[in-house]
Amino acid sequence: MSRTSMPSTAVEVSDLVKIYPGGRREPDVRALDGLTFGIAAGTVYGMLGPNGAGKSTTTKICTTLSAATSGTARVAGFDVTTDAAAIRQRIGYVSQGSGADPRQNPFENLVMAGRLHGMTRHDAADRAERLLEQFQLTEARNRKVAKLSGGMRRKLDVAVGLVHRPQVLFLDEPTTGLDPQARAEMWSEIRRLATEAALTVVLTTHYLEEADELADRLVIIDHGRAVIEGTPAQLKSTLDGDTLTVELIEPDIAAVRAVGEAIPALHDVIVEQDGPNGKLIARTDDLSGVVGRVIGEFDAAAIAFGAVSVSRPSLDDVYLHYAGRSYRADNGRTGVAA
Ligand SMILES: Nc1ncnc2c1ncn2[C@@H]1O[C@H](COP(=O)(O)OP(=O)(O)O)[C@@H](O)[C@H]1O
Ligand SMILES: [Mg+2]
Repeated sequence: MSRTSMPSTAVEVSDLVKIYPGGRREPDVRALDGLTFGIAAGTVYGMLGPNGAGKSTTTKICTTLSAATSGTARVAGFDVTTDAAAIRQRIGYVSQGSGADPRQNPFENLVMAGRLHGMTRHDAADRAERLLEQFQLTEARNRKVAKLSGGMRRKLDVAVGLVHRPQVLFLDEPTTGLDPQARAEMWSEIRRLATEAALTVVLTTHYLEEADELADRLVIIDHGRAVIEGTPAQLKSTLDGDTLTVELIEPDIAAVRAVGEAIPALHDVIVEQDGPNGKLIARTDDLSGVVGRVIGEFDAAAIAFGAVSVSRPSLDDVYLHYAGRSYRADNGRTGVAA
């Protein structure tokens, strides 16, 4: 297949709905509730959302592994319902959790993947060596996958997804569970893939900073719907002013909210409990003296607080603004993907 046949829109999902039927005791789950977005060919696109938002469900529909209840999805110019085979030839899919065979070594896994895609033994072996080199796995080439580090395994998963030179690569949470060093290495791999002009990368993540760092554009998904879509810079620029945060100590939420809302320099005041403590987060356009003013008002109201800080808008703030609750609180304190 020729790469020039790639349409300028690599992925297009429109009004996707997915309902997982419940059991006798469980209600149906509406995992996707009218999700729409488009991805330009040759870009890195972030699908960002908390656990349970519907990211994996969307990925499975786009990779033809699951059928939508309604709505349409087109990938590399083909419809998932009528042209699944054509799509499978043109995509790579790295699922959440490792797909490599733990009893085989990286080389064998890559050759097997190539053979499954119809490559000759010779071509598959060639391609395997090239990918091992690209992903710095040559030295681990003969070790059983079960004995590799998490970071090496994840790199092998991505390499397996690239064996047949796909046009669109779906990565479902490629860095979840990796230590910071392995995550940094994976980021540089993804950045390198992004420079291959013909490849579109669809990156699913629940890490805000990962989407901020790697994605040309991103969609924030919440409860199966697109909350907002755009470049990271665009999303941040939709927020006015800066973010003021006050760490609260065993707060009376209603009292803190009342004091916060009465301060004229603050708007969009949100007060959240976090364990025994909490946080006030607000937007402010008036940096001069706002910290002093907040401290004064909180002291006067006898509200106990820790650090008060002001920062430029981040994707956390974007999420907070559009989803109405903070990302950290939403994603739980475990940080473990569903
Ligand atoms: N096979 C399934 N059967 C029933 N419910 C499911 C299934 N897969 C996912 N879900 C539910 O659908 C919602 C979205 O899940 P998922 O797409 O895995 O979210 P994410 O990848 O963003 O964490 C969640 O409520 C999840 O529990
Ligand atoms: Mg998932």
